[in-house]
Amino acid sequence: MDQRMNKEKVKDLASQLYAAIAELLHKAAALLKEHKAPIAECLVKEIAKPAKDSVTEIVRSGDLVSYCAEEGVRILGEGKFLVFDSFPGNERTKYCLTSKIPLGVVLAIPPFNYPVNLAVSKIAPAIIAGNSLVLKPNSAGFPKGLTSCITGKGSEIGDFLTMHPGVNCISFTGGDTGVAISKKAGMVPLQMELGGKDACIVLEDADLDLVAANIIKGGFSYSGQRCTAVKVVLAMESIADSLVEKVNAKVAKLTVGPPEENCDITPVVTESSANFIEGLVMHAKKKGATFCQEYKRDGNLIWPLLLDNIRPDMRIAWEPVLPVIRINTVEEGIHHCNASNFGLQGCVFTRDSNKAILISDAMESGTIQINSAPARGPDHFPFQGLKDSGIGSQGVTNSINLMTKVKTTVINLP
Ligand code: G3P
Repeated sequence: MDQRMNKEKVKDLASQLYAAIAELLHKAAALLKEHKAPIAECLVKEIAKPAKDSVTEIVRSGDLVSYCAEEGVRILGEGKFLVFDSFPGNERTKYCLTSKIPLGVVLAIPPFNYPVNLAVSKIAPAIIAGNSLVLKPNSAGFPKGLTSCITGKGSEIGDFLTMHPGVNCISFTGGDTGVAISKKAGMVPLQMELGGKDACIVLEDADLDLVAANIIKGGFSYSGQRCTAVKVVLAMESIADSLVEKVNAKVAKLTVGPPEENCDITPVVTESSANFIEGLVMHAKKKGATFCQEYKRDGNLIWPLLLDNIRPDMRIAWEPVLPVIRINTVEEGIHHCNASNFGLQGCVFTRDSNKAILISDAMESGTIQINSAPARGPDHFPFQGLKDSGIGSQGVTNSINLMTKVKTTVINLP
């Protein structure tokens, strides 16, 4: 092999790969932000996301891509150097060099509710880590073949993609399908976010105005169609009346209608979702739940509804309907939270920070927010569900690390 050519090739790769990709990512981020209006319009039309939230999603995505480019060049530029004699019984005769190298091809499957943000949260770390990716049309001048888009029904091309021997990592956000993918996927790293049943525990000493504002934000934004939506409120009996009254006053102010008019509550994404929600509401009605508002539906548009006096045997825990379960002890709340198969996020409201931390430790969920609604962002925070909520931590840094493998060279001295 031509020694000189080889050296040049290595030098070329080492000096250009991460820096060059970072530059492309910065360009992509700028393009996203520059074209935020037309891209947001697609979200409004295709998934009925309110106009202001659609713009927020695009801007947040641009920021994520830029952050990822910067974080990538930092962490991928670092390797490790280990010496042999730091392990008992060895002399200094071996030197170990490690660095992170790409996995190969990352298959990214984002969900409907964040078509841009949850796409770029997979694309950007995969690309900066030196992988190629199957998902998306080329943009911002990425070299041909670096990113690809394959569209089709999951039932027709899903297995082909997820079981393809050329795929070296799968990053998926969605529902139960993720469990099936995990079972079929080969020995490749998996990043799966499969939803949650996020609980909101409210103690007697909580600031109820703050709680009510966060329940509205957490339970009803994008009509509750977020994996991190508050799905159940567990309120201490002594403050439940007052909390329900405050939340009801805010529910009454939510606007309901088309996404183009920036309404708070917009139609849910499919008719089957609307039918599913209606089924849960009717089940709760039959079981004796207290309806704080009249149930109202027009096509896929379902008016926000707070259901009080829900008991654990009622199936309701879905959007944009929010159940309140009254509890008499903190342990009861923790027990309800942990009885769920899911464990994505949760939140606890109290002015007692020691208690809050103990409750956070006891709740079997990936992230617990103290005195705020569950949320994935900011996008560099770790994000991982426990139990059926998923596998493989997200967040920019964790994603870059997951999408690389460690390569080691050991130098043996004579
Ligand atoms: O539903 C997707 C999930 O990742 C939620 O994200 O930003 O609404 O907390 P976010």
